[in-house]
Amino acid sequence: MKEIRLGLLGFGTIGTGVVKLVTQNASLLEDKLGARLIMKRVADLDITTDRGVALAPGVLTSNAHELLDDPEIDIVIELIGGYEPAKSFVLRAIENGKHIVTANKALLAVHGGEIYAAAARKGVEVLYEAAVGGGIPVLSAIKGNMAANNFTTVLGILNGTCNYILTKMTQEGADFGAVLKKAQELGYAEADPTFDIEGIDTAHKLCILLSLCFGTSIDFKDIHTEGICSISAIDINFAREFGYKIKLLAIGKRDGERIEARVHPTMIPVNYPLADVDGAFNAIRLTGDFVGPVMLYGRGAGMEPTASAVVGDVVEISRNILAGIGRRTAPLGYLDGRIRTLAIKPIGEIVSKYYLRFSVMDKPGVLAKIAGELGRYSISIESMIQTARSAQESVPIVIMTHEAREMDVRQALTAIDSFDFIREKSNLIRIEDNLE
Ligand code: HSE
Repeated sequence: MKEIRLGLLGFGTIGTGVVKLVTQNASLLEDKLGARLIMKRVADLDITTDRGVALAPGVLTSNAHELLDDPEIDIVIELIGGYEPAKSFVLRAIENGKHIVTANKALLAVHGGEIYAAAARKGVEVLYEAAVGGGIPVLSAIKGNMAANNFTTVLGILNGTCNYILTKMTQEGADFGAVLKKAQELGYAEADPTFDIEGIDTAHKLCILLSLCFGTSIDFKDIHTEGICSISAIDINFAREFGYKIKLLAIGKRDGERIEARVHPTMIPVNYPLADVDGAFNAIRLTGDFVGPVMLYGRGAGMEPTASAVVGDVVEISRNILAGIGRRTAPLGYLDGRIRTLAIKPIGEIVSKYYLRFSVMDKPGVLAKIAGELGRYSISIESMIQTARSAQESVPIVIMTHEAREMDVRQALTAIDSFDFIREKSNLIRIEDNLE
């Protein structure tokens, strides 16, 4: 039987899942490929920890070059994560004519252009389904059966760690730190969990989605990115009172020759399907001009779902190798040379509805002054709540606005925060409740 030989860089949680899958489902994969997948080399700095999966003797090495420079290896699977040494290893593998499968969203979001160009020069494939949405085949869907559409919006819950934390805070009133620890134990979190909770991991994934949906190169630094650290139980409870849930949302919208690209906690109506995406599950809602809205849902993190996406890419490349064809689809789904550069709209120019929470001294005239400033900046109030006076010195006033320009909202908040009755910095959360 023919063989496709694999080299695996990084024997951590996902790498272990890949070895487990290739071993456990070997005969299924043979039935589908007519060839055997051979894990020829696995490289990791730690070659002593027992991962609970068996490798043939001599496969595990601490020297990545034994794999990168092995002429027998057809496909290199990069699961180290981060920028370096992952980037150097991937470029070396490409230079040596190997196809690449990676789950590394940080690497592709920042250095994708360089890697795709190197792959084009050598005629090798770069697939990265596991980089966005764990086990959800969203990138294949965009490049494949949805390729005939002009996309107008892409919304995503793309980080399992954040979604798990927000879900536990919402359902159980759980403490942020304790839930984060649990997410790390479950293998959802990045090596550095600040990438998760500060929204950076979500922004990496949005960057990849935007490139595929809109055929544009994106400067990752231009994506407005906020994490979930500022979300408190009080906001979660007010959201519930108004009929919303708070999710860390990645938002991409096409607006002529510009796009919106932002990651931030967002209130969405409880009756939206996205609001039911809980725990480590992810979902991506795409809108195409012909297909309309499509939502893809599944496990967005963890060993086995992510391994499923990685090995799915290995199968795709293996089929091409076996059929003697390559690069049927360019890495971003657009022909080389057809990628544009659409500008990202500055965050101040976006138009949204807002949840505004003010912490104020409870005394006459306060509400009138807040409403006056909002009016001065053309911000129209949709509804409001002021909770009953308590023994505490301050009380919250919550205002939901109609659509307003972000720059106006920020200026109004700055003006309001200078009043002496304000007890702490005012808080805003954007609302997304008008989906096409
Ligand atoms: N840290 C990521 C998450 C893993 O929590 O979703 C999957 O990319």
